[in-house]
Amino acid sequence: MKRLQYRHRGGPDVLEWAEVDEPTAGPKEIVVEVRAASINPTDIKMRTGELGVANLFEPSPKGMGLDFAGIVRAVGPEVSTLVPGDAVTGLSAPRSRSFADLVKVKHDKVRRVPDGLDFAEASTLPMGAATGAKVAAKYLTPRHGQTDHRVAVLGAGGGIGLYAVQFARDTGALVTAVAGGPAANTLRSFGLDEVLDYRTQTLAGSGRRFDTVIDLSDRYMYRDVEAALSRKGCFRTMTPGLGHLGALVTKRRARPAFAIADTGGLDRAIEAVGRKRLVAGVGATFAMGDAIDVLRDYEEGRLKVVGKVVLTRP
Ligand SMILES: NC(=O)c1ccc[n+]([C@@H]2O[C@H](COP(=O)([O-])OP(=O)(O)OC[C@H]3O[C@@H](n4cnc5c(N)ncnc54)[C@H](OP(=O)(O)O)[C@@H]3O)[C@@H](O)[C@H]2O)c1
Repeated sequence: MKRLQYRHRGGPDVLEWAEVDEPTAGPKEIVVEVRAASINPTDIKMRTGELGVANLFEPSPKGMGLDFAGIVRAVGPEVSTLVPGDAVTGLSAPRSRSFADLVKVKHDKVRRVPDGLDFAEASTLPMGAATGAKVAAKYLTPRHGQTDHRVAVLGAGGGIGLYAVQFARDTGALVTAVAGGPAANTLRSFGLDEVLDYRTQTLAGSGRRFDTVIDLSDRYMYRDVEAALSRKGCFRTMTPGLGHLGALVTKRRARPAFAIADTGGLDRAIEAVGRKRLVAGVGATFAMGDAIDVLRDYEEGRLKVVGKVVLTRP
C-alpha cells in the first residue's frame, strides 16, 4: 500500500510517497481503508518540529494524517463491535497515520460514520469537531445558568473554529465569531449572536465586552483584545508562543488554552450531528494522491477555504 511519509523534519519537500507492507490487525485492532483524511495545522507543526517532542518517538520514517474516515477492511480476533464493511471515523495512531491507503487502529478509537455525513465530512469530526467541542466545554460555556455570558472566537472560520462556535452557541453563550469574508458568510447561517469580518472590523469596535476571547488564528496578542474584555474577562490563546510570554506571565487575564482531541469529543460531535445541531465544515476536497502539492499550497497560504481541507480516496 502507499503512504505519505518523511525521514527528516522540514517543509513539504521532505515528503515522499512510499510503498509499504499492508498492516494486519492485532487482537483488538482494525484495519481501515481510508476514504478521507483532513489536514490539520498540527500535522504540519509535527512535521516541521514546531510542536517539539510531540511526535519525537514516532518511528521514522514518520507518516502524516491524524484523522480519517473509511471502511473497515479487517478486524482482530477480539473485536466484536465492528465487521468488515462498516463505515467508521477516528483518530490515527502514531505508527499508522492516515495519509495512506490503509490505517491500523485500536477498535475503540473509532466510531461509526453518522447517518447523513459523507466520508469527507466525517473525517473532520475526530480532530476539528472534537477539539471544537472541548474548546467550547472548557472555555466558552456559561457558568451556573449565567444568561449573558459573552464570548468571542477569533479564527472562527477555521477547522476548529467552525465547530467551536456551533458548540458554544448551544451552551447558551452569546457568541461573536471573527473570521474572513467568505467564512463570515457561512458563520452567519449558524444563528450566532454576531459575526465580524476581521478584514474590516475589530472586537473593540463592536462596542461589546467579552467574558472570554479565544484566539484560534494565531494572529492576536493580549494587547489587541484587552479593550474588548469585560471586567473579569480573559484572553485565551490556542497557540501560546514566545510572543505571548510577556502577557501570559504578567497579566492575570491572559491565559493559554489547551484542547486535545479524543473520543469523548468525537462522541459529542456525533451526538450533535444526530440532533442536527452541527454542520460539518468541509472547505475543499482534493485527491489523496495530490497530497504533497495540496500540502504545499496549504502551508504557503494559497488554499483559503472555509473549514477543513480534506484529502479523499475513491
Ligand atoms: N492548544 C491546543 O491544545 C491546540 C489543539 C489543537 C490545535 N491547536 C492550534 O489551534 C489553531 C487553530 O486550528 P485550526 O485547525 O482551526 O486552524 P485553521 O483551520 O488554520 O484556522 C485558522 C483560521 O484563522 C483565520 N484567520 C486568519 N487571520 C485572522 C484574523 N486576523 N482574525 C480572525 N481569523 C483569522 C483563518 O482564516 P483565513 O483563511 O482568512 O486566513 C483560518 O480560518 C492551530 O494553530 C492549531 O495548531 C491548538
